[in-house]
Amino acid sequence: PQVCWLAPEQTAGKQKPFMYTQGQAVLNRSFFPCFDTPSVKFTYSATVKVPEGFTAVMSATSWEKQKDNTFVFKMSQPIPSYLVALVVGDIVSADVGPRSRVWAEPCLIEAAKKEYDGVIEEFLVVGEKLFGPYVWGRYDILFMPPSFPFGGMENPCLTFVTPCLLAGDRSLVDVIIHEISHSWFGNLVTNATWGEFWLNEGFTMYAQRRISTEVYGLPYTCLEAATGRALLRQHMDATGEDHPLNKLRVVIEPGVNPDDTYNETPYEKGFCFVSYLAHLVGDQSKFDAFLQAYVNRFKFQSITADDTLAFFLEYFPELKEKGVDSIPGFEFDRWLNTPGWPPYLPDLSPGQQLMEPADELAELWAADSLNMEAIEAVDITGWRTYQLVYFLDQVLQRSPLPEGNVERLSKMYPKISKAQNAELRLRWCQIVLKNNLEAEYSKVKDFLHSQGKQKYTLPLYRAMWGGSETAQALAMETFSATAPQLHVNVQNYVKKILGLE
Ligand code: BES
Ligand code: ZN
Repeated sequence: PQVCWLAPEQTAGKQKPFMYTQGQAVLNRSFFPCFDTPSVKFTYSATVKVPEGFTAVMSATSWEKQKDNTFVFKMSQPIPSYLVALVVGDIVSADVGPRSRVWAEPCLIEAAKKEYDGVIEEFLVVGEKLFGPYVWGRYDILFMPPSFPFGGMENPCLTFVTPCLLAGDRSLVDVIIHEISHSWFGNLVTNATWGEFWLNEGFTMYAQRRISTEVYGLPYTCLEAATGRALLRQHMDATGEDHPLNKLRVVIEPGVNPDDTYNETPYEKGFCFVSYLAHLVGDQSKFDAFLQAYVNRFKFQSITADDTLAFFLEYFPELKEKGVDSIPGFEFDRWLNTPGWPPYLPDLSPGQQLMEPADELAELWAADSLNMEAIEAVDITGWRTYQLVYFLDQVLQRSPLPEGNVERLSKMYPKISKAQNAELRLRWCQIVLKNNLEAEYSKVKDFLHSQGKQKYTLPLYRAMWGGSETAQALAMETFSATAPQLHVNVQNYVKKILGLE
């Protein structure tokens, strides 16, 4: 399942086949013999011979093209098995910074360069300022075919991303900042077991939002964090707060695939816990210094939360003395081992100026009789993508809306209902399904045909399967048409949702 072979029709250019590997979490054991656990790190080298007209790239610190279409790669820093990655395809590259280039199929390279030219270096520089040296040499980005199941995958030196990021306006750049943040949290300091995945993703969410705050400011970053909190809310509502996966330290029994435990908790509850640690410290620059010391202490190692928290208490002896690890209701042990909504939520009110208008507008659209005058008075043309995303999440939360409201909303805001931006399309499709707006079911179908990202695909199949008979038929029809294009993991998850297994 690790090595994905794509036919020409499954690529953007539709001319040549393409292959890629996806290692995380435990797939690389079907690619090469290895200790396929994040607790073991190693360097590697690889020699890859490809047919004429193809290029090979890997997650490696150096590469060289030799005669006979043979590429030689070397990763000189120790990494866990899940970070070894290979792509072979008809791909070309363009520089976007002093240590960064984008890779894509020829037909996408212009768009790829335009999307990120000149912005990557700033994220790296801010990351280095906050968390210490960037040890991986280059930071390149590879745009994958549409069926790539993730938004981004932090393969060292070479992040893989979904082509959905090519929004034309850099609006989805938070994914890049996220993957860059893994250069310190995940790729340098690594979770020793997949049961402590939050050490990778929770710290990375925190680092991502620190970089975002420095570059884009606190209001915008709080708005983005609010959309993350909404995802956690949706997830916990769907599973029940007490679900055993809704704790930070998850018990993964032998024989259970860690990928099957994937959810929002390690990301957003993990973010809350790291924010709580920062709150205990009470001074951002002191906490930043702690994060830098933490990376330096554990770089190139694999650790557990016990190591992290022991180091935290050792670094701040006055907090240890105060017994901050056992404040009733906020015990470190409770954070790690008790499922449920985070006991502490960071203050997102600096984003209020961006969220309030969206909250108010959603309220207006949820009314039984629409106050069109008030609605028309709100001008959304200048709203940023994440403001629209936040607005749509609010509409979704209030859905189904009273009869007829969603049709009017759709007509009023073609910027939303006809959006090309994937984050907007996902939310619009969710609203269409929750409101049974059959006239726009074709949008759900088109979106699912256009890409195969897991976080877009599964919520839509869940919504269809939980909906009307027409929605269920749409799910079946769409799945039979698109299944061969989906990553095997995603195929299996959809089959489960549709009761096909
Ligand atoms: N490492 C993850 C992707 C992943 C997780 C692959 C588990 C396989 C198993 C990556 O860093 C990630 O979290 N991507 C997110 C980005 C988002 C949080 C900005 C995604 O793909 O949505
Ligand atoms: Zn991540």
